Amino acid sequence: MKALILVGGFGTRLRPLTLTLPKPLVEFANRPMILHQIENLAKAGVTDIVLAVNYRPEIMVAALKEYEELYNVKITFSVETEPLGTAGPLALARDILGKDDSPFFVLNSDIICDYPFEQLRDFHLSHQNEGTIVVTKVDDPSKYGVIVNEPGHASRIERFVEKPKEFISNKINAGIYILNPSVLERIELKPTSIEKEVFPYIAQDGQLHTFELEGFWMDVGQPKDFLTGTCLYLSHLAKKNPQELATPSLDYIYKGNVMVHPTAKIGKGCRIGPNVVVGPNVVVGDGVRLQRCVILEGARIKDYAWVHSSIVGWHSSVGRWSRLEGCSVLGDDVTINDEIYVNGGSILPHKTISANITEPQIIM
Ligand code: GDD
Ligand code: MG
Repeated sequence: MKALILVGGFGTRLRPLTLTLPKPLVEFANRPMILHQIENLAKAGVTDIVLAVNYRPEIMVAALKEYEELYNVKITFSVETEPLGTAGPLALARDILGKDDSPFFVLNSDIICDYPFEQLRDFHLSHQNEGTIVVTKVDDPSKYGVIVNEPGHASRIERFVEKPKEFISNKINAGIYILNPSVLERIELKPTSIEKEVFPYIAQDGQLHTFELEGFWMDVGQPKDFLTGTCLYLSHLAKKNPQELATPSLDYIYKGNVMVHPTAKIGKGCRIGPNVVVGPNVVVGDGVRLQRCVILEGARIKDYAWVHSSIVGWHSSVGRWSRLEGCSVLGDDVTINDEIYVNGGSILPHKTISANITEPQIIM
């Protein structure tokens, strides 16, 4: 089977992390976001994966080549010279996606869930129409593609509206599709939005269906949602794969759902959890309190620091008795001095912070 992952866009909403790495390579639960998808596609029998890239392709190529062998898949980079949106990349990869009659998967690269690829394929083959969109329900649908089913039909889509201004439904596009190669005939090789310029027309022809997702789902393309998605993923692991989490009986674990990389070092008298990810080679000092946060590779959290609802970027350091909260995000190699308070600070790479940041702001 074949799949295309949309890896373009500049990931501006996940700055300052995406100033250092393209969004799909930012680690979610200690592994590049996109690896969660590649691994699950491979498990479902996908052998051909196209990565549609328009931004710093060389970094992606270098990072992903090693996974081809690991997961036994062929990864092809389809590089755009101008951003082609969410549909144009399908036209650019026509040779691979349309090489046989079998349907192909399409994925947004920033979504996290318990990917239901096999059930999705079976359902898609059962209705024999052109496309199937995975849907989920959210409280605030305004920042997503919203879907209305045909009255009296369990799955056929009547309307697809991208980011509607007025409420029409809370059923949203989860960013995972399976499409027949015939859909390629509807797409020209130019910047095109699949959500605005393709799906509404397939729906009009009665050829588009929904597949309802079970369990958690999150678009982790912005810091607040990245943290929420991390919490959802960790509680999913606690039920399905508890061996991937730190043993709850460890003296520093508080209320569970904590992932600690085996190379990380944790000091004495810490209290960590719930909902924490500690990355490779992180050094946590003594008496540190971590909750609902992500500490990326090589970061250092010094003695008695307190971190809540925040992301600490690669190789950054948080000083002794410092306090980070309110969805603060430290970019790569940021230094927070001792006894500093940061509330909602978004701090660009390589900065040193020596005065309190009491209100959310970007520090450049
Ligand atoms: N190759 C390529 N080229 N990829 C692109 C481009 C481009 O020009 N523009 C965006 N992408 C990729 C992004 O990297 C992402 O994986 C995907 O297309 C969707 O773009 P986002 O910028 O993340 O869109 P969104 O989150 O506002 O909305 C989309 O996702 C929602 C679910 O999270 C839409 O598909 C919505 O309908 C959907 O509900
Ligand atoms: Mg997104």
